[in-house]
Formats: sequence, C-alpha cells, structure tokens
Amino acid sequence: MCGIVSAISATRNVVPILIQGLKRLEYRGYDSAGVAVINGKLQRVRSVGRVIALEARVADDHLAGDIGIAHTRWATHGVASERNAHPHISGGVSVVHNGIIENHAEMRTRLRDMGYEFLSDTDTEVIVHLVHSKLNSTTTLHSAVRLAVTELSGAYAIAVICADDPQHLVVARNGAPLLLGLGNGENYAASDAAALVAVTRQIVYLEDGDCADITLTSVQIIDAQGKTVQRPISRTTQSDAAVELGGYRHYMQKEIFEQPTAVANTLAVIQGDDSLTPAIFGTEAERVLRTTKAVLIIACGTSYHAAMVARYWIESLAGMACSVEIASEYRYREPVANPHTLVIAISQSGETADTLAAMRYAKSRGHLASLSICNVHESSLVRATDLHFLTQAGPEIGVASTKAFTTQLVALSLLAMLIAKLHKRLSREREQELLNDLRYLPTTLCRILELEPQIERWADKLHTLDHALFLGRGMHYPIAMEGALKLKEISYIHAEAYAAGELKHGPLALVSAAMPVIAVAPRNTLIEKLKSNLQEVRARGGELYVLADRNVRIDEDEGMHVIRMPDSSGFLSPIAYTLPLQLLAYHAAVRRSNDVDKPRNLAKSVTVE
Ligand code: F6R
Repeated sequence: MCGIVSAISATRNVVPILIQGLKRLEYRGYDSAGVAVINGKLQRVRSVGRVIALEARVADDHLAGDIGIAHTRWATHGVASERNAHPHISGGVSVVHNGIIENHAEMRTRLRDMGYEFLSDTDTEVIVHLVHSKLNSTTTLHSAVRLAVTELSGAYAIAVICADDPQHLVVARNGAPLLLGLGNGENYAASDAAALVAVTRQIVYLEDGDCADITLTSVQIIDAQGKTVQRPISRTTQSDAAVELGGYRHYMQKEIFEQPTAVANTLAVIQGDDSLTPAIFGTEAERVLRTTKAVLIIACGTSYHAAMVARYWIESLAGMACSVEIASEYRYREPVANPHTLVIAISQSGETADTLAAMRYAKSRGHLASLSICNVHESSLVRATDLHFLTQAGPEIGVASTKAFTTQLVALSLLAMLIAKLHKRLSREREQELLNDLRYLPTTLCRILELEPQIERWADKLHTLDHALFLGRGMHYPIAMEGALKLKEISYIHAEAYAAGELKHGPLALVSAAMPVIAVAPRNTLIEKLKSNLQEVRARGGELYVLADRNVRIDEDEGMHVIRMPDSSGFLSPIAYTLPLQLLAYHAAVRRSNDVDKPRNLAKSVTVE
C-alpha cells in the first residue's frame, strides 16, 4: 500500500502540490508521512500520523522547493515511526517507495559491507543506498535507478530525487501502481490520478518494468527491455467534487447513502433496453460466454463476499458450475484448471496484489478467458483481463467498502442473467421480470436507508459489547459474513458469521446474553429453517437482532428485536439486506468514537501481499 506523489516545477514551490496529493492518497495508508525537496540542498520533513500532522510540520519548517517527493505510509517493515517514515535518504539521494522488496535482507548485508549505514527498519532503505551506490558507476540518475531496480525483487513503485541533479525526477514501477501527470512547465508522478486532479488531467499510465526520467518539459520512459517507449496519454475524468464529504460526517456514511445512485449509475448500461446484451461485458463477451462451461471467481475481503453471492446466482439461474476462491490462497495452490472455465476477478480498486497475482496465475494455468469486475477504469486488473465490467460506484474513500460491494453485486447479477440467457436457461418473461426488479432496486435501497433511526437504536445497545454473531442462510450467508466484516473492521467488535444451520455444530456454545446474534431473515425457501435456528439461540438466552422480511412472521419479544425490511425481490435481496448491516457497523463505530474512515491497521488499496 502506501501512496507516493512527486513533482517538478519551473515556477512554483511544489510542497503544496505534494501535500494536497498526499491527502488524496491517504486511503492507501495513514500511519506516517513525509516529504523531501531540493532547494539548494536536500531537505526532508517526516511525521507520525496523518498528512495533516505533516502539513503542520512542513509549515513550521517553511519547507519549499521546486522538485520533491512525498509519501504516506502503511507500515510493512518496521513500526510506524518517524525513523521508518519515507522519504529515505542516502547522501544526496532520496527515495519514496510503495511495495515490498523481497530480497531486502541480502541487499542490506551487501550494502552494509559496502559501508552503508542503515537508519531505519524498512525494506525501502536498501533502494536508496543502492541507487546512491550506482551513481559511482553511471552519470545520470535515470541510469542509476535503472541499474538499481534490476537488483531488486518484489513489488515497487518508486520516486527518486538527487541533490546533485535537481533537474531530474526519476520514477519506476514493477507490480505497484504508478502514473505520470503532464503539466505546463511542470510534471508529476503519483500512485493514483486522484493525487493529481487539482493540477492536471493529462495522465500517462506506466507499465511494469518502466523507468521514467521526468524533467520540467519532458518525460522519457524506458521499458524493461531497455527500449525508449511512448505510453498513451489519457485524460482522467475523476472529479474533485466526488471526493468531498458534502454534508456527511464521514465518507463511509456518504458512501452508504450514495448506494441508490451508484446502483442506478451501474445499471445505466441496461437503460431503455428490454433485453440484456452481452456487449456490456465487452465486444468479445458473447463469444466467450457462449463457450464458457464453468466459472471460477477470485477476490479478497468484501469483494470475495460478492463472489460468494454470485456463486448462488450463477448456479441457480444459469445452472453452471461456479467456484469461488480467496485470491491469496488460490495463488499458492495447485488448482486443476479447466480449459472451458471463465476466470473472473472482482476488485473495487483493481490494484489488490493478491487478486492480480491470482489472476495472472489462473491465466497461466490455461483457462478459457478472463473477466474483471472493477470500479477503477485505468486499474491494472482491468488492463490485465480480456473482458471487463466497470461498476459506477464513483470514488470510494472510506476504507470499509460499501457502495463498491453493492455495485459489484449488481454487475454479477447481470452476468448471471447473461450466462443463463446465452445458455438458454432464462425465459423471456423471467428476463423481463429480473430487469424490472433491477430497475426498481435504487428505489428499494432508498426505502431501506430510511430505516437508519431504527438501526441506530440497535447500535445504541450493541456498541458496548465485545462480540457478535451474524447468521444467514443460502445466498444471505455471504451477506452475514459481510456484516461481520464491516462490524469488526470499523467498530473493532469481534464478529463472526455462520451459515445458520452450522450453529448447532459448535458456535452455539458461545451464545449467552453477552453474545448478540444478528440474523438476516428474508422471505425464501429457507426461512422456516432459519426461524428454527433462531429459536435455538433464544432457548439459550441469546439476544437476537433480526432483519426480517415484512411478510415473515417473527414477533418482537423480550430478547428478540426485529426490523421489518421493505419488499425486495428474492433474487436481489442480498443487495437489499447489506445496507442495514453497513449502517449498523457504521453507527456502532461512531458510538465507540472510532476513526470510521481510517480504521486502525488498515488501508484501502492492498497493493502488497
Ligand atoms: C473491507 C474491504 C476489503 C476489500 C479487499 C479487496 O471493507 O474493503 O476487504 O474488499 O481489500 O479490495 P479490492 O476490492 O479493492 O480488491
């Protein structure tokens, strides 16, 4: 993770550009931050905590310069401390880094033998000493960095400056995102275009193995083969307004309430159509989906929960075998590939290292084709797959994923329908019915959000407890898992999810008055079974909080709290039942005075293994 931003300007102090950029990158890490500039000499300021703390230190020190690099950190090697914060320095060279250098231990020994003294516990410090050492045998910073990176293994995006050569900013990437921004009399580089939208919209995405030399007026990119290459210039459409808080207290709250719009925007691809067209997944989608005989979905975290729901949909609607894998596990297994399987990766960011690696691995094992469902247009994942579907959630700033999840589900429901249709498993009437349900979904979600005051009352009771169990059955089991993940990640309340039928096989032993049980109870074929499971909990003194379909008979009673859900279609009900669980986690976290948008120890984009 970590975010990097760098700039060189002919006319102005770049420090405000760097600080502004870091604020936009804080979702990538927020345990410490730092900036280095050249102003006659190399100057550096670092601080523990948020970018705002760095901003104050920079102002106190009157830091200024027309070339600089900056970093916001999510610690991997070495605790969050000023000593470990980037930029790191070796002589007049300074480096910021996102990624992990896997051979850092042996490099450290080698560099120590050469006389370098290490002042931090980071893997990054080997890069800066290595670049410094290469300057003895080559004349330019660009060639020193190119030489240095050939000795690194692992993932990196780096930006480097050198006090002896203040006209050049050098950046390189391999397995971590990095892009260039082109300005007028100034140029930039950053982990994400969001860091640069205030200064430019002209973006050049680097490829793995690229190393770029950036000056005031030029950019020279050399690829992994040592050839000078031109990469296309694209115009980012990211808007500054989309990343403002508006009237909300937290981004997570804003993003929960944006879901009706995000879902409607994602559904714009079917607007006005009375039947589904494969082209919404790419021009080759029809050919690929017709020949697909099985589906494998890989993802992490919340995106993995979306994949689990999709398995129910694809199996039940399309009658097609669908397996779901946690990306970080799949990439190290010896899975048996089926040449007729379509591999799908789901990722909000499109930069999750495990998901990218799992997709590369799946492709190498000879599957039919690849498809990504992603929220970031220019991401590595989208560029690495044959077909893609872009969810239209807009920027998701809160670390806990909300609107990205529900829009992923929308995309997956369309995919399940399409596979069913192309394999002649979906009647015209059923297709119409499902399309109508989808079109009505934003309205349903608006009505569900009106339940917020009732959910707040649940949060009043739950936020003081230390544990919670979440129950669901069938395609709502993954929704229970998602509810538990949300609660633990932002409220720090320990939460576990179980398929309700599993309770009696062990977890029932945990049930007591101090262990609230939150259950998802939509109207479907499993509802009577779920009700029996709830009785098992009540009989043992467990306190139940049930989100129930308004037509399901579950009566409010001592120890039985019920919120009635508005009508929502059976097929799409996992999307509907997600929202109250997001709100519950949010309000519990607020009551515990947690930093909702930046929960401890986490970061939004997990670009390291
Ligand atoms: C939880 C959360 C994470 C992400 C996971 C994958 O709220 O956001 O579990 O879902 O890190 O991220 P993406 O979807 O970007 O691949």
